[in-house]
Amino acid sequence: MTAKPNTTKRVLSGIRATGRLHLGNYLGAVKGMLALQDDPEYQTFYMVADAHTITTPYQVEELRKNRRAVILDYLAAGLDPEKSVIFQQAAISEHFELAFYFSSVTTIAKMQHLPTFKDKVKQYPNHATMALLNYPVLMAADILIYMADRVPVGIDQEPHLEVTREIARRMNQDYGTNFPEPQRFATTGEYVPSLSGEGKMSKSVEGSFINLTDDLATIQQRLANAATDSGKGTIADEADTKLKKIYTDASGQRSDGVARLLTFVELFEGTDQRAEYEQQYTSTGIKYGQLKQQLAQAIYKQLAPMQIKRHELENNASFVDQVIADGNAKAKAVAQTTIAQVKEKIGLG
Ligand code: ADP
Ligand code: TRP
Repeated sequence: MTAKPNTTKRVLSGIRATGRLHLGNYLGAVKGMLALQDDPEYQTFYMVADAHTITTPYQVEELRKNRRAVILDYLAAGLDPEKSVIFQQAAISEHFELAFYFSSVTTIAKMQHLPTFKDKVKQYPNHATMALLNYPVLMAADILIYMADRVPVGIDQEPHLEVTREIARRMNQDYGTNFPEPQRFATTGEYVPSLSGEGKMSKSVEGSFINLTDDLATIQQRLANAATDSGKGTIADEADTKLKKIYTDASGQRSDGVARLLTFVELFEGTDQRAEYEQQYTSTGIKYGQLKQQLAQAIYKQLAPMQIKRHELENNASFVDQVIADGNAKAKAVAQTTIAQVKEKIGLG
């Protein structure tokens, strides 16, 4: 079916159609997708998770636009329709059908206790819908309908993969299906911190992200707003925080802003450059203006080729339409096979 017909091992991943992709999406998810696309052992299925987008409030026209934007970002980043099946989740209605079957082996209590569900309810208190509760069940269906056993996603998605494995186990035990228990495929950028404030870089937090489509001036400006300190202090290793180390400036204040900034340095300029800045931190002091200039250049250097490619794709609508149509057809064929088998096993076939 694809250029890798002789393997049965499969990969699936997706990103919701909620906006332009940012560095967190790229490093945590897309880089893993690219690595596996080039692994001859795997058939790779990559979708835009447009149906997941409607689990939180959204605008119809925005959804249509963002769905296309995610596909363009995928192609610009190097996802290759010759190597991967690139498709649109909602075009494959079998995902919804399988999600319904899976909901029969999933308790409400389990879904209500997931941190991802609680976070979203906090964010949208008047929107605690059945669709939101069902989010992880649909995600399990997305993955298992392709019998995928590897899922390149960021670390924040781990609870959803745990649910996927539980559903696979339950289905296999109760109905004798043959679902794999998928594992996350991790990248070095599995947790990209927010540029400002707490937590991870996220589309929904203004000031937290750098988009893949940002030009150099925008990157510089976004970095300029990132928090720093006096530039001098002490460093302690802290294995159990996501930022890995604790920086304490001369006044004894903990500087998570610096830990975040140096995470970006490591991701875009390498560990040696980070070590050099750390050495400065504990001796002469870091000059943040210079650090940010150099970092902005390093980030832009990675993004520029993607931006050129994206621009070409924007002017080639028929190519993009064809990629999606071909991907949808290939995905549909696999999904239909799984659904037929599952229906038979559960007594509906
Ligand atoms: P967002 O939180 O910005 O809305 P999504 O939830 O759509 O992003 O995530 C899409 C993919 O990108 C997922 O695989 C997710 O794990 C990954 N991802 C999102 N943010 C980050 C981040 N800050 N660091 C690493 N991976 C991330
Ligand atoms: N939940 C994922 C996110 O927020 C998107 C997603 C939906 C997904 N279905 C998936 C990721 C299946 C991997 C596999 O980013």
